[in-house]
Amino acid sequence: MSLGRTVTLNTGAKIPQLGFGTWQSEPGQVEKAVLHALKTGYRHLDLAKVYGNQKEVAQALKEAFDGGVSGLKREDVFITSKLWNSQHRPEHVSAALDECLAELGLDYLDLYLVHFPVAFDEPNQPNSKLFPMQEKSDHPDGDVKMFDGISIVDTWKAMTQLPKSKARSVGVSNHSKEHLQALIDGTGVTPAANQIERHPRLIQPELIQFCKDKNIHITAYSAFGNNMFDVPLLVTHDKIKEIASRVGATPAQVILAWSQVGGHSVIPKSVTTSRIEENFKEIELSQSDIDAINNIGKTEPRRFNIPYVANKPRWPVNMFGTPEEKDAPHKVII
Ligand SMILES: NC(=O)c1ccc[n+]([C@@H]2O[C@H](COP(=O)([O-])OP(=O)(O)OC[C@H]3O[C@@H](n4cnc5c(N)ncnc54)[C@H](OP(=O)(O)O)[C@@H]3O)[C@@H](O)[C@H]2O)c1
Repeated sequence: MSLGRTVTLNTGAKIPQLGFGTWQSEPGQVEKAVLHALKTGYRHLDLAKVYGNQKEVAQALKEAFDGGVSGLKREDVFITSKLWNSQHRPEHVSAALDECLAELGLDYLDLYLVHFPVAFDEPNQPNSKLFPMQEKSDHPDGDVKMFDGISIVDTWKAMTQLPKSKARSVGVSNHSKEHLQALIDGTGVTPAANQIERHPRLIQPELIQFCKDKNIHITAYSAFGNNMFDVPLLVTHDKIKEIASRVGATPAQVILAWSQVGGHSVIPKSVTTSRIEENFKEIELSQSDIDAINNIGKTEPRRFNIPYVANKPRWPVNMFGTPEEKDAPHKVII
């Protein structure tokens, strides 16, 4: 079985550049979507405990491996999942992986990521809350209760000690250069990957250069922008549409081709059969079109996924050092 276009992680594992996202893929939709993605040819799935749909993803995987996708075996698919913020205590990391594998009905993950460089104040016990709340908050949607007692280095150290038989590679998500450097300095182990928000309006050149220098693979999330706000997806951007019509592709295909330049992977989410197929068709872009898309990021920069302003409930933490987060009372604990 072909994996499609792949790149090699610093662990030696091969990751297909084009993957499939599952955030906001609702129960009742996600099983069908994942199965259709596998039938279409996707061989890289992006999952997470907090998406709340891993048990349903498990049904799609079981069906696919039981003959639903002709000849498909577990080792043909690169599967990523993520440690949630309420599971950061070092002594809980191994149990969290076991719980994740049990939800998915799998023996191992290809890549296990620390989802965010922040810890919530909740012991990882059966029925623990994904979003423990502060008792008092002046925000209408409430504030998540942060836990400042664990350094990201301690959580990362526990990640590096997970058995390779269960987590073939380990990495992080939403980490800045400073966070990554702290992990490397503190443990001597470089994350295999950093999954970050990246799209034509957030091109992240400095973080990407840093990761290239350290041999940390970049996976781009929210490649089409984000529908948490009432901002149109980037598939409607005039420049993207102009390039798409000139090269005879769709705007989504243009964005996904641009996203993979430089050897990054990208994980578009869709629950729509036709879009799942559309997004899988790979096209090539000229250097001038790549430059024109980079220019969107230079002239119209916008980060969408800022939990201090975008999430309900709010996460009262300054994670990315943006102006929007300047009043957040908590910071990343290094
Ligand atoms: N690590 C993190 O913190 C993090 C954060 C965000 C996301 N992620 C991962 O990255 C994945 C992708 O990011 P995302 O879910 O934010 O957004 P995205 O993939 O950028 O966009 C998804 C949206 O685009 C629509 N869409 C998909 N294909 C399209 C097409 N060809 N034409 C027009 N619209 C299209 C989808 O609609 P339909 O589904 O209705 O078709 C959905 O509304 C997530 O699913 C998740 O796996 C990770």
